[in-house]
Amino acid sequence: MDVFTLIAFVSTCFLIFLKASTAIDSISPSEPLPDGKTLVSNDGSFELGFFHPGSSGNRYLGIWYKNIPVRTVVWVANRVNPINDSSGMLMVTTTGDLQLLSQNITVVWSANSKKGAQNPILQLLNSGNLVLIDDRDGNSGAYLWQSFDYPSDTLLPGMKIGWDLRTGLDRRLLAWKNSDDPSPGDFTLEIELQGNPEAVLWKGSQKYYRSGPWNGLRFSGSRFVGPDNLVFSIEFVSNEEEVYYMFSLKNKPMLSRIVLNQTDYTGQRYTWNEETRTWKLYSYVPNDNCDNYGLCGAYGNCDSGQAPACQCLKGFKPKSPDGWSSGEWSQGCVRNKPLNCQAGDGFIQFERLKLPDATHSWVNKTMSLKECRHKCFQNCSCMAYTSLDIRGRGSGCAIWFGDLVDIRQFQSAGQDLFIRMSALELGMNIPFIHVSSLANLNISLKLNLVGSRKIK
Ligand SMILES: *[C@@H]1O[C@H](CO)[C@@H](O)[C@H](O)[C@H]1NC(C)=O
Ligand SMILES: *[C@@H]1O[C@H](CO)[C@@H](O)[C@H](O)[C@H]1NC(C)=O
Ligand SMILES: *[C@@H]1O[C@H](CO)[C@@H](O)[C@H](O)[C@H]1NC(C)=O
Ligand SMILES: *[C@@H]1O[C@H](CO)[C@@H](O)[C@H](O)[C@H]1NC(C)=O
Ligand SMILES: *[C@@H]1O[C@H](CO)[C@@H](O)[C@H](O)[C@H]1NC(C)=O
Ligand SMILES: *[C@@H]1O[C@H](CO)[C@@H](O)[C@H](O)[C@H]1NC(C)=O
Repeated sequence: MDVFTLIAFVSTCFLIFLKASTAIDSISPSEPLPDGKTLVSNDGSFELGFFHPGSSGNRYLGIWYKNIPVRTVVWVANRVNPINDSSGMLMVTTTGDLQLLSQNITVVWSANSKKGAQNPILQLLNSGNLVLIDDRDGNSGAYLWQSFDYPSDTLLPGMKIGWDLRTGLDRRLLAWKNSDDPSPGDFTLEIELQGNPEAVLWKGSQKYYRSGPWNGLRFSGSRFVGPDNLVFSIEFVSNEEEVYYMFSLKNKPMLSRIVLNQTDYTGQRYTWNEETRTWKLYSYVPNDNCDNYGLCGAYGNCDSGQAPACQCLKGFKPKSPDGWSSGEWSQGCVRNKPLNCQAGDGFIQFERLKLPDATHSWVNKTMSLKECRHKCFQNCSCMAYTSLDIRGRGSGCAIWFGDLVDIRQFQSAGQDLFIRMSALELGMNIPFIHVSSLANLNISLKLNLVGSRKIK
């Protein structure tokens, strides 16, 4: 052991001793947190402090797991404004703002509590949430500011991704540029605010992967069947106040996180394996070819069990047959028999699909499936409908306008979708409909006559 190693060893021991003896989970305006000192959550699971990522010499304020040997940063404050030395200092102002200073003067990052505070305290919670509270409020649970509202690239249990519609807050995940640079890359995960919300991974301005809309049990694009699994419980809330996704752990001592990885453009879920003391990749998206957004074009159906994976939905044919046969699927498919809304269209039932892109969609939580069909039938640009919630016998109404894209076929997952088809297409299969007379019938009659056909 040379003298430098010895010095390093002794000072490390000293630092560890110092940390252990002074572990605190909160600071007030009179106690700034300099580089070298950390906050540790009460149960010792998370730590807040200054770190340098990978081989970079830049320093950032961040939160990481305290109890595992692999430094895993879950949140970064000054993502775009690194500090180039160890002069960083985190302060709570007396009015309840957060300021991260370098050289005691330059503000490299700040956060404001809109309300203002009398006795502001910054505390690192056991969940990994860094919260600003007003001591005056006692245990009201109201946060003036919380890091969970401003995620980096990681979703922790209890953290919401999505919208607070009352304030307009949009919580998104943004990948690190690379493992040396936590500044936001071009890979993001967001809950899309639309008639029927869904989670979308974006690669730059290109849609990359959709979860499919939530169906009460799971996202319709999930390959896993069953309401839940043994490890996580998942919550998806969509109402006038909030639209968000959140997961929690059923087995508390376990660690699990969702993280965006821009190196291989995946959204990954890791769980901590205590035996090997490593992170285990539990699942990830996109998972296969058919997860690639819009691979088969409009009315194309992606089935990873088939070769080629792209097939036109029944009743449709390739828009450009030459392109299609050479594997150029993006042009998608068109109907064999064109629609004629005035003359009366019908609906064909398709089973076990990942529901199409819901950018142009509309929902109603209380309508029955029959009312839903009527609603769709009445509007010539409505191309499909189904139940909003598939639990029990199904409830609510989800309808789609315009071309249907990014559909995939599952063997056991997925759900029913009723797609608008020409009555001619139906006429071939359901002989009791006299097609030419349909034009003279009014809507309620048509609805009674034009049945829906199941397609496997
Ligand atoms: C570090 O950053 C400060 C400003 O924040 C700048 O004045 C100084 O020159 C930088 N030092 C180096 C070595 O880049
Ligand atoms: C930081 O600045 C304040 C006033 O601007 C000064 O009183 C204090 O001594 C400075 N601290 C350090 C560590 O330079
Ligand atoms: C990204 O994923 C690759 C391959 O799965 C892995 O080797 C790498 O460590 C990940 N990067 C980060 C920052 O987690
Ligand atoms: C949803 O459907 C119900 C029942 O048809 C109806 O009373 C209600 O007004 C609809 N809500 C919206 C927002 O359209
Ligand atoms: C059909 O729905 C579209 C999309 O919501 C809407 O713009 C259009 O006005 C509707 N048409 C009718 C006739 O209701
Ligand atoms: C539509 O058909 C129903 C059932 O035959 C009938 O009761 C109703 O009066 C008709 N409505 C119109 C507007 O023709």
